[in-house]
Amino acid sequence: MKKRLFALCVALAMLLALAPMALADTVTGTGTAQGFGGEITVTVTLEDDVITDVQAVGDDETDGIGKNVIKEWPAAFVEANGIVDTYTGATFAGITRAGFIEAARAALADAGVNPDDYLREAAEEAAEDLDLEADVVIVGAGGAGMTAAITAADAGATVIVLESQPAVGGNSVKSTGGMNAAKTADQDENEFGESAGVEKTLATAAEKWADNEAITALAATVQEQWDAYQANPEGYFDSVELFALDTLIGGKGINDPELVNTLVNNSADAIEWLRTQGIDLTDVASFGGASVKRIHRPLNDEKKVVSVGAYTVPLLEQACAERDNLLLLTDTTATKILTDDTGAAIGVEAEGKAGNTVTVSAGAVLLTTGGFGANLDMVVSYKPELAGFMTTNAAGIQGQGIEMAQALGAATVDMEQIQIHPTVQADSASLITEGLRGDGAILVNANGERFIDEVGTRDVVSAAEIAQPGSFSWLVVDQKMVDASSVIQGYIKKGFMLSGDSYEALAEALEIPAEAFAATMQTWNGYVAEKNDPDFGRTSFAQPLDTAPYYAVKVTAGIHHTMGGLKIDPETHVLNTDGEIIPGLFAAGEVTGGVHGANRLGGNAVADFVVFGRIAGAQAAAYAAALTEALAPAA
Ligand code: FUM
Repeated sequence: MKKRLFALCVALAMLLALAPMALADTVTGTGTAQGFGGEITVTVTLEDDVITDVQAVGDDETDGIGKNVIKEWPAAFVEANGIVDTYTGATFAGITRAGFIEAARAALADAGVNPDDYLREAAEEAAEDLDLEADVVIVGAGGAGMTAAITAADAGATVIVLESQPAVGGNSVKSTGGMNAAKTADQDENEFGESAGVEKTLATAAEKWADNEAITALAATVQEQWDAYQANPEGYFDSVELFALDTLIGGKGINDPELVNTLVNNSADAIEWLRTQGIDLTDVASFGGASVKRIHRPLNDEKKVVSVGAYTVPLLEQACAERDNLLLLTDTTATKILTDDTGAAIGVEAEGKAGNTVTVSAGAVLLTTGGFGANLDMVVSYKPELAGFMTTNAAGIQGQGIEMAQALGAATVDMEQIQIHPTVQADSASLITEGLRGDGAILVNANGERFIDEVGTRDVVSAAEIAQPGSFSWLVVDQKMVDASSVIQGYIKKGFMLSGDSYEALAEALEIPAEAFAATMQTWNGYVAEKNDPDFGRTSFAQPLDTAPYYAVKVTAGIHHTMGGLKIDPETHVLNTDGEIIPGLFAAGEVTGGVHGANRLGGNAVADFVVFGRIAGAQAAAYAAALTEALAPAA
């Protein structure tokens, strides 16, 4: 029954419409914009008022997805004599599409014409209302939504995913750092050298958290594991209990211990599941608040670290596209969860791009809409002191899922727990990944001095940074770090970093005291050699910053993650305010609360979306299957 609905969701035609302004001669223009994997360049040729040729280059787009856009759209633009923002109702490669359109607009402007005169409108058919059916409807095509969709589809369910934005990815595609997981084969590739990190965590548990039962119990187990390891040090030391301990201490002990257990116990398996989807996170590194190297990162063909979101999201998108029992509708904003007269969730009502109503009837409803970090009014309503802060969040992260579920009586937890990240590029609100600090970068203030353990938890580093003159800092790296990271190379390309051939030259570029800055750098390099930071107690050292030229980016604190959200149980059922399951309603990812407590550790958002996305997809598919079986007429 469910398969027939896919026939309802098909191609919507291109519209050939507006007459462009007249041109006297042949003109050519070129424009460039950011695509998914890198830059897209479009060159447009016009004769009189007509586009006669379009060439596009986007070598870094994803094979089989973005590359198809680069290949097919030039001819479509020539045929339409303009920019065709196709809305087919089932679209993939959204970020490549958006980049292509931006580059084409720039090319038309470069050719001396007004790009707006060459926009083509969506076809009439897009305004038709759609009535669809599926076993599982998923709201939100970020990391959690796509992970859940793949899992549910692989369990045999028909799946429809609704995404409010033109492109998939949500906050996940902006995620740079990596994914935390404990006891993985990739960790064992490393030599263990973080003894001070483990001991510091055990000391913190004893000194600050003696009255927290969950932390105390975990610390006792970790102490035993650590003693045994020291007596017989084999392989890399980590444990799911140490991962849980770090997560609870980072979250200030208010996390839901059952959700934390679910996260850590399924993390290594989640790394392997990603591998089955062609997603390889092999590099293991240090990150804020982690006692040992636990964040897993992707490497490119040159073995340089790349952003986890930009790498992972297209591959999840491709995996969705490959499943013929899975339909993904972009530009479709869910507005309401539909219920039956028992209060069970039975579908979703949504608004399509053309203002049409899209109704999906489903056995189970799964919310993966993300948090509310881009809804500054909502942020300020829960935490007034964040008024005026920048946000690193994607535009679609508006808290819609939380509000739709609350309308059904769903409970929320920790809504006022909103994380600020200390290294957000001051002019653009772009995230500068914590990975740089894990790999050896330091922070200095306007006086050229360090002020904190840079690899501490985000709440602590942000608070220290806000207390510095001007409430900003400079994040400093050297050429060695640049050579190892295509992420840093990207920051340089975007013009985020100033540089100097010596410490003094960099200080001059930053307009900070040269002598003090050079002394800070030399002192720091000495601490790295000694693996001891007497000033701020940092325990992760990586390598000295001693290879010129040196680079720095100006960073400040910005809103990054909303830890609060819908209350769920470990099987991802959404609970109501009486603590009961709302039948048919599931949630995963940043829309939920309780996993991260008062402060999320870097690398735990990706772990959250993979672990809970998989559980939610499997649970929703099983619930829908049981419902279908229960409703089937007796033989
Ligand atoms: O700094 C970062 O790369 C952020 C990672 C995260 O929020 O998990």
